[in-house]
Amino acid sequence: MAQRKPGAGQTALVTGASAGIGADLAECFAVDGYDLILTARSAEALQHVAQRLAQTYSVNTNAIAQDLGAHGGGAALAAEIAKRGLNVDVVVNNAGYGHAGALTASDLETQLGMIDLNVRALVELTYLYWDRMLANKRGGVLNVASTAAFQPGPLMANYYASKAYVLSFSEAMWEEARGTGVHVTCLCPGPTASKFRERAGTGRTRLGKRSKVMASMPVARAGYRAFKRNRRVIVTGAQNALQAALVKYIPRERLLRIVRNVQSPA
Ligand SMILES: NC(=O)c1ccc[n+]([C@@H]2O[C@H](COP(=O)([O-])OP(=O)(O)OC[C@H]3O[C@@H](n4cnc5c(N)ncnc54)[C@H](OP(=O)(O)O)[C@@H]3O)[C@@H](O)[C@H]2O)c1
Repeated sequence: MAQRKPGAGQTALVTGASAGIGADLAECFAVDGYDLILTARSAEALQHVAQRLAQTYSVNTNAIAQDLGAHGGGAALAAEIAKRGLNVDVVVNNAGYGHAGALTASDLETQLGMIDLNVRALVELTYLYWDRMLANKRGGVLNVASTAAFQPGPLMANYYASKAYVLSFSEAMWEEARGTGVHVTCLCPGPTASKFRERAGTGRTRLGKRSKVMASMPVARAGYRAFKRNRRVIVTGAQNALQAALVKYIPRERLLRIVRNVQSPA
């Protein structure tokens, strides 16, 4: 008799699932039998991922195009999910973007939009599905932060701060969920091959030129495995994990100078 998969009968909502780490995270959940609700702005790319995963893993997939950076984006998504008669057991808050450079080198909309997507939408979706998770004593939240979360980031200040928020928020929610059966994990990738670097312009920085770039699937797999075990934080890549662990021992002003240096144009 075929064994029941661990995610059978549950649904994972994955944001930023049209490409990159989000599409691969969605695939990890599909492998374990989770049905999927996939969201991002690009309807066509989403449909493509949804069809591929449905066919390959025999799971139900729903694609919902939504700009989560828009105010009310999370509520609009939740309304569409309810309208389709779907439930959400796991929220994967992955959608996000960054922008390398001095704060005022990009327009205000780009900077505030980053907070709206990386932080506001993540809190909104967690809030909307949290009580149901607690009541069901299962499911959880997998948030995607970054190694940027572990220190301030001069010349990419707002992005680093947004990811520090995600890490802090996730760890606190992990503690709040202790003993409830609800899992909370914060995935902190280092540089990863995706469209992120192009949008953020990080390929032009010293860090971007020097750093080892991981493929997105191993990053997603590590995040998914950590979520299954309810690991609080997972930093992908041995060198990234070491750096994240060591930064707290570096005097703050020296650390700020180091990060400014590596975030400078190469
Ligand atoms: N790649 C890296 O080096 C790296 C390192 C550390 C952390 N991260 C984090 O990993 C996460 C995933 O990034 P990625 O590397 O996979 O980048 P990506 O390839 O650019 O994917 C980003 C995803 O977010 C979606 N998205 C962007 N803006 C959106 C919006 N306003 N509303 C809804 N969806 C939106 C994109 O789809 P649409 O464009 O179709 O909306 C896409 O599906 C992000 O949170 C990022 O900060 C990435």
